[in-house]
Amino acid sequence: MTDFKRILVTAALPYANGPIHIGHLAGCYIPADIYARYQRAQKRDIKLIGGSDEHGVPIQIRAMKEGITPQQVVDKYHAMIKDSLEQMGISFDIYSRTSNKVHHETASAFFTTLYNKGLFEEKETEQFYDEKAKVFLADRYITGTCPVCGNPNAFGDQCERCGSSLSPEQLINPRSTLSDAVPVKRKTKHWYFPLQNYEPWLKEWVLEEHKDWKNNVYGQCKSWLDNGLQPRAMTRDSNWGIKVPLPDAEGKVLYVWFDAPIGYISATKELTNDWADYWCKEDTRLVHFIGKDNIVFHCIIFPAMLKAHGNFVLPDNVPANEFLNIEGDKVSTSRNWAVWVHEYLKDFPGQQDVLRYVLCANAPETKDNDFTWKDFQERNNSELVAIFGNFINRAMVLMHKLTKGKVPPLHTELLDDHDNALIKDIAAAKTNIENLLENFRFRDALFEVIDLSRKGNKYMQDKQPWIVARELEQDPGKQKLIDNCLHLCLQLSANLAIFINPFLPGTAKKIQHMLKVVDKILDWENGGKLKLLSVGYSLRPPELLFRKIEDDEIQRQVDKLRSGGNMPEKKEEEVKSEDVKSENYAPVKPEITYDDFAKLDLRTGVIVSAEKVEKADKLLKLEIDLGFEKRTVVSGIALHYTPEQIVGKQVVVVVNLAPRKMKGITSNGMILMADSGGRLIFVNSEEDIPGGAGVA
Ligand code: MF3
Ligand code: ZN
Repeated sequence: MTDFKRILVTAALPYANGPIHIGHLAGCYIPADIYARYQRAQKRDIKLIGGSDEHGVPIQIRAMKEGITPQQVVDKYHAMIKDSLEQMGISFDIYSRTSNKVHHETASAFFTTLYNKGLFEEKETEQFYDEKAKVFLADRYITGTCPVCGNPNAFGDQCERCGSSLSPEQLINPRSTLSDAVPVKRKTKHWYFPLQNYEPWLKEWVLEEHKDWKNNVYGQCKSWLDNGLQPRAMTRDSNWGIKVPLPDAEGKVLYVWFDAPIGYISATKELTNDWADYWCKEDTRLVHFIGKDNIVFHCIIFPAMLKAHGNFVLPDNVPANEFLNIEGDKVSTSRNWAVWVHEYLKDFPGQQDVLRYVLCANAPETKDNDFTWKDFQERNNSELVAIFGNFINRAMVLMHKLTKGKVPPLHTELLDDHDNALIKDIAAAKTNIENLLENFRFRDALFEVIDLSRKGNKYMQDKQPWIVARELEQDPGKQKLIDNCLHLCLQLSANLAIFINPFLPGTAKKIQHMLKVVDKILDWENGGKLKLLSVGYSLRPPELLFRKIEDDEIQRQVDKLRSGGNMPEKKEEEVKSEDVKSENYAPVKPEITYDDFAKLDLRTGVIVSAEKVEKADKLLKLEIDLGFEKRTVVSGIALHYTPEQIVGKQVVVVVNLAPRKMKGITSNGMILMADSGGRLIFVNSEEDIPGGAGVA
């Protein structure tokens, strides 16, 4: 590993067609950041490269739907994503974007190089076209009835109800999801990259030379390579993207998966004049952090492109993570089943490290994993607060109490087995954490750090310096035992700051502040030793690193998730059948707090009499028995029900609504009705409910 001169780390460029959620963080940004911070602490030459992926159909379509330009779409989400990543402490050396000029030039030139080598095959094929929207349609944007199960909202690539994989030709009654037009076939010309020619080389390079790659990554590559590679079109018909740099290519742009990974190169160019050192010298270690849906692009297609081009290094590793589910269900941006990073930042201000911790401790490193709010709370309360935070806090508090706020001396002649064991543990932890981090095993590395703080707690419990302190009066010599204990605990605290730093940089900073030491102390080489704090040095008062997270905070998040939260704009890629229907629904009103809701007093009641209100053809005057009293309520349901129809019906009544006069009658409440496409229906249960029961 160390025979590399420089390390170039990339994190997948997120599509700028929506905000990012915690799955993005867990998938690649947090691991990439941990790795980069660790390598920086090792003082290696390392750059962390990122940016927004701003081309492709999803962005175009979002623009069409919002009635704004694609540039406006990407401007909005690029800013939002960049801000979320920054706030989460993802320490990019540059976070760029693919709509930049440098990128357009770089990607164009890349294409031209391959073109001039005669690599592309020009082919004319027939593709589906939407004559109304005037665009060629990717399979995903064609919908129709599934020939297998009859689902009327199947997609041109797959039926989500029965899971059949489909092609648009198979759909019964196909329509464009954009305009509802019937798609027609049209001839179109594109440039194909002969991926199949690289198959022998890829088999050797990936399957033989990179047996060290993670199982999930290696396995996916093997299956692609075993199935045989096909030529791939590297251009698309569109007016959003990088123009194909050829004379006869009007209306054609580079395929987004052709240009996006080149974005890593463009961003490096933007970052430094030495970009070619990173991209072209063999002693660069290139590492791509991605999510599993990006594996084929980073392990097969992009490397083949780089190989074909000729001047560039190839990735040394591609540590892709699997997916993070939420509360047992797949993330779905269209159903708003996601935890949005910008929302988290609003709801848990200053608590970035807690999320970083949970997402790393629970990272989908080898298989899909689940994020639950309960687990979030538990990990915070029983690991960060009760173990890590508790140790540092006790060490600081006791030092202020028992050693005058200063680092006490170490009396080596008095070291006992407990002390020696702890000293060994500190040294061993450094080696272990380091090995795990070098091998992309971030979860295990983090557990080592927590485990070391757990050992600190145990050590303190074994030593009980606060008890020893009671014996000082009889035996002042015991101060030396207290000194030893706190000296070691403080040195351990400093070590913990170094070790936790790649994972929880904000926490490391806080410890560093309490210990009143300079940034340099966090250099990795200082870890494993007891020399970080000098004897007699006075330290700052303790401050808490973490706070307990209460049940109601968690409940609020669960409720928000289950109720669909505050809907951010949807990602077009994930247009689901529900979305088509959802246009018939009223938009969800602005969020209210539980307290707002609790102000409503809802009770059950029975309509005991009903009559028409004169000169008001919509109103009925109802007498409702609430059990504890009878009320008059005027309700606008006369066009839907006759008085006879509703006498005896069970209803839900808002009983604390301010009285209101209608046509001379005072209405004392309101009954709840469901509005189903203009039809008003009673909201009630099959079962008999006694009058006056509270509803919540
Ligand atoms: N935008 C893609 C996604 O979100 C990732 C692109 S990674 C890059 O899945 F390499 F192409 F940049
Ligand atoms: Zn089906």
